[in-house]
Order: sequence, then C-alpha cells, then structure tokens
Amino acid sequence: MRYSDDIIEEVRMKNDIVDVISQYVKLTRKGSSYFGLCPFHNEKTPSFSVTPSKQMYYCFGCGAGGNVFTFVMEYENFSFGEALSHLAQRAGVQLPKMEYSKEAREKAERKATLLEINKQAAQYFYYQLRREGGRTAYAYLTDRGLSEETIKKFGLGYSDKYSDDLYKFLKAKGYSDELLRESGLFNVDERHGMYDKFWNRVIFPIMDVNNRVIGFGGRVMGDGKPKYLNSPETKIFDKSRNLYGLNVARTTRKNFLILCEGYMDVISMHQAGFTNAVASLGTALTSGHASLLKRYTQEVLLLYDSDEAGVKAALRGIPILREAGVNSRVVNLRPYKDPDEFIKNMGPEAFEERLGQAMDSFMFRVSVAESEFPMEEPQGQNRFFERCAQMLLELEDELERNLYIEAIVKQYRRYSISNEDLRKRVNTLAMKGTRAERRVQPKSGSPETKKRETAAEKSQKLMLTWLVTYPGIFETVEKYITPSDFVVPLYREVAGMLFEQRKEGEMNPAKLLNAFTDSEEQREVASLFNATIHLETKEEQDRAFADALLRIKEESLAERNRNWDPTDMAALQDLVKSKKDLEELGRKRQELHISFE
Ligand code: UTP
Ligand code: MN
Repeated sequence: MRYSDDIIEEVRMKNDIVDVISQYVKLTRKGSSYFGLCPFHNEKTPSFSVTPSKQMYYCFGCGAGGNVFTFVMEYENFSFGEALSHLAQRAGVQLPKMEYSKEAREKAERKATLLEINKQAAQYFYYQLRREGGRTAYAYLTDRGLSEETIKKFGLGYSDKYSDDLYKFLKAKGYSDELLRESGLFNVDERHGMYDKFWNRVIFPIMDVNNRVIGFGGRVMGDGKPKYLNSPETKIFDKSRNLYGLNVARTTRKNFLILCEGYMDVISMHQAGFTNAVASLGTALTSGHASLLKRYTQEVLLLYDSDEAGVKAALRGIPILREAGVNSRVVNLRPYKDPDEFIKNMGPEAFEERLGQAMDSFMFRVSVAESEFPMEEPQGQNRFFERCAQMLLELEDELERNLYIEAIVKQYRRYSISNEDLRKRVNTLAMKGTRAERRVQPKSGSPETKKRETAAEKSQKLMLTWLVTYPGIFETVEKYITPSDFVVPLYREVAGMLFEQRKEGEMNPAKLLNAFTDSEEQREVASLFNATIHLETKEEQDRAFADALLRIKEESLAERNRNWDPTDMAALQDLVKSKKDLEELGRKRQELHISFE
C-alpha cells in the first residue's frame, strides 16, 4: 500500500502541528516557537519545542523530533499508515481506498475484524461477571482485594460454565467459523467441533498501548491447573511486543517503569497507586519488549518473583534492557513472593520504600555471583573476583568501569581486596582476550557505541538549520555550497531536497520529512533542522557562519581527496582548483556577512 505524495502532503498541511500537539501537551508560546514538557522523556523544565513556521517539533533534551506524522506515530505508537488515517480523519480528508492492494486491504480488514471480535468477547466476559452466574468470580476478585473501580479499569470479566455460549454469542453476530478460529478464543476438535477456550475462569483482557483488546488471560478460581490460560499468538497478538498494563503505564509521568511477572501484580500495584507497572505475561523478556519500554522510559525497575526463577529472569532481562539503552534496577521484595503479596501485607508506603532501595543491576549481578561461590574459602573468593573482573570487562566505558571497581571493593571490603588488585585482575583478563572480552565488541546501533558528533557534522547541521530558519541566506549560501558538499549521506540527501524545493519556490521542511518513513530517520532529519548554537551579536553570527561554511568545504574537499581515483586527471585538476578556492575563501572570510532574520 502506498498513498500518493500529494495526499500525504494534503493531510499534513491540514493538520496544524501546534493544534495537534496541543491536544497532548500543554504548550506555551515563547517567541516564534511553543514550548512544553516533552512527552517522550521525563523532565521538569520544558525543552520540547514546536515551531509553526517549520511545522516541526523537536526536543532539545532527548532529541525526539519530526513533523506531525512523526509525532502521532511516536505518541500513539502508530505505524505511518495508522498515523495518516488518524490525521486524515481529524482533518476530514477522504483517503482514496483503491490505492491499497487487494491483499493488503484484506489483511487490514481481517485484523480489524479480529479486534472487533476481541472487543465483543471482552464485553461479553465483562457482562458475565456481573450476572448472577458470575457471583463467585466477582467474589474471587474482591476477596483478592480488588475494588470495583479496579475491576472496571482493567475490564476484568468471567467466562461462565457453559462451553459454547461465547461461540453462540459471536456466531449470532455473524462472524464466520474461520475468523472465530483465528481469534484464538476457541478450541477445535473433531468430536466437539468448536468450543470456548475459556471455561469457568476470571478473565483478564490484554490491551495494546492503544487500548485495543488483543488477547485474554483466564485464571482458575482456586488451585486447578493450568493456573492461567492465555490466548495464543494471533495476527493481532504478538506476545513479544506487548506488555500488560502499558496502555495505562505509558501515560504516567514517572521517570521509570516497573516490570513484573503477572496480571495480578500489575493490577494490585496500579490499585495501590503504582500506575507505572507493566508485565511481560509469562513470556521471558524479549528485545521487542525492551524497545517498546525504551519508547516510554529510560529506566526500568525489575520486580520479579523472589524465587530462583525470578532471579534468573532478572539476570536474563538486564542485558536485554541494556542493549536497548534502558537502565535497570532490581527490587528485593523478600520475604514476600511478589508485588501483590508484598502490598497486601505491607501496604503502599513500605512498597514505595522498597522501590527506593532498588539495587543497581550491575551490583545485583555481582551479589548473585557472590552467592554462587564458597566465599568462606580463599578459592571461592578468588573465583568470585575473577567473575567480577569478567563482568567489569563488559563495560566499555572506562569511567563506568572504574566506578564499579570502586563499588565492588567497597561492598566486599571484608575480603580485603583493593582497587588496584581488582583493576590489575581486569587488565590481565583483557590481555588474555577472554570470551568475556570478545563479548565487549561494540554492537552497531547500541547507544553506548554511537559516536560523538564531530565538528564537521555539527557545521553541516547548523547550515541546514539556518537555511530553513532564515531562508533569506539562501542566495549567499548557494554561491559557495552545493548539496554534494554535505558529506554525511543523509545530510546530503536532505540538502539536495531543500535546494530542489527552493528552486521550485519555497522551502518546506515538514513536507520534506514525508519522504522518510522510518521514525529513526525522521528523528535524525528533525535534528538537522534544529541544531543550536548560542549567538548574540552580529559579529558572532558572521563568525559562526564563516566557520561553518569553511568547515563544510574543508570536509567536503577532504572527502573527495580520500575517494579520489588516481587515474582520473580531470578530478585531480578539479581538486586542486577546489583547494585554491577554499584558501581564497579562507582569506576572504571577513567579507562573509550574513543576516539571520
Ligand atoms: P505466577 O504463577 O507468578 O502467577 O505467574 P501470579 O501472577 O502471581 O498470579 P496469582 O497471583 O497466583 O493469581 C506469573 C505470570 O505468568 C503467567 C501469567 O501471565 C501470570 O500472571 N502464567 C502463569 C501463565 O501464563 N500460565 C500459568 O499457568 C501460570
Ligand atoms: Mn501472585
């Protein structure tokens, strides 16, 4: 499916970015932009800006940015297509239907119908809980301490003792057997045909971040097995990309999310006021979960069960989160089994206190290691510190590594080890090139290894920002620079588009963004138009401009130098000339005046 550029642009133009974002974020005008608290990271002073003239937003704190499509995609967790239809609807633009391919349309319709079936089922279960036949189920929930408000908020329900009533209910609404089978709500066997999967269980509807019911969990009331039955994965239920409770947790303005194991944990935490709790529902944490979490927070508190399995799950989860750029801490709930039990016995204040004592996840790993060695013997101590050294080697950043060396030494002072001892151990291990060290190999894309922005990159960004902010300077810039002078491929592409737009009339950065459908790219392009540098006087402006211009030319020349084919004589002459021009430009830099207004 692909909509025409014209219709995409029409939808964009008819949705003023300030209007749209104002529905989500309180904005205050400051000069030519609006500012507010960034919805994509936690902050106390507003660094989130929306600029009407550019029709773009940008957060100077976390780097989130883009046009109105990007905003809706990021905020609502929509795909581009979903953002487009949402905004089209908002502006009353009719999207042409026929541009979908037949397969794509059928697939989309199927998904929509499955969502509808789930919604109907959820309502059906909800209703059953409140009927006479649901009385035991309702009592089960209230006995477990849930209030009516909580039951409502999570849409809890009950599947009654008949094994075909949900089937009949949905059949009567006209759904085909084939679709019902695909919903995962029914079992099929030769003898009985199709029958309800959930039978005499309390029901927990599972919602995605947009509050759509995508699946169910059902718990026996008592000790039957299995304790929980869950919907299988379907076209709309991907267990490794959804977290229970995130639809609520994502809107809480806490600077961390709580990750636990189960339905009841999430619900009792929410009821106790910890509305930032989510659960990965019986499946182990995946990188899909981690990147979902990353959208909403920088830090996760792990509240896994206080048993061996819970410790294992935490040890597994920590590196997955770290890889996605999410910090983690581990909360100890002992002697209680899980958050639900802890809160029931100790209350919200004590729980809050435990959260405050959450252990740094690296130190958690160290403490688990300690428990695995016979620490009363020198042998055991030795092996423990060897393990510490291995873990320390995983830390690429030297400062971070040193901080943890100190922390370990401080914590395990009783074994009389010094900073130097441990550092030496780490270095020896590094020389040996152990397995641990090989694991340290930077993985592309992980945030720790993202290189710092170079001066040349910064200059290119500044120039692009100035061009869209002060279109009046274009004539001057054009005399010296062409898009090919931007050596970063993405910047070059964007510069090319800007120059092209200028030739055709007016520069329109928000429109230009339509060409990038990947949200990472959109974010980066948005940052290109929002580079900042503090300039007060006219002299500073001129100097900054000349600096940026010269640096861009220098870098462009250096790049051509690197890629020059020695057999290409014309290119050589061209290079020599460019070099002369650059020197000339350097001499003339005093004459490069520019006006930013
Ligand atoms: P737990 O066994 O810790 O259950 O499983 P719980 O959440 O504490 O539930 P209560 O308090 O006894 O009611 C944690 C999670 O693992 C999944 C469920 O998502 C559950 O919430 N699970 C557990 C299953 O999917 N099936 C099972 O049989 C058991
Ligand atoms: Mn429990």
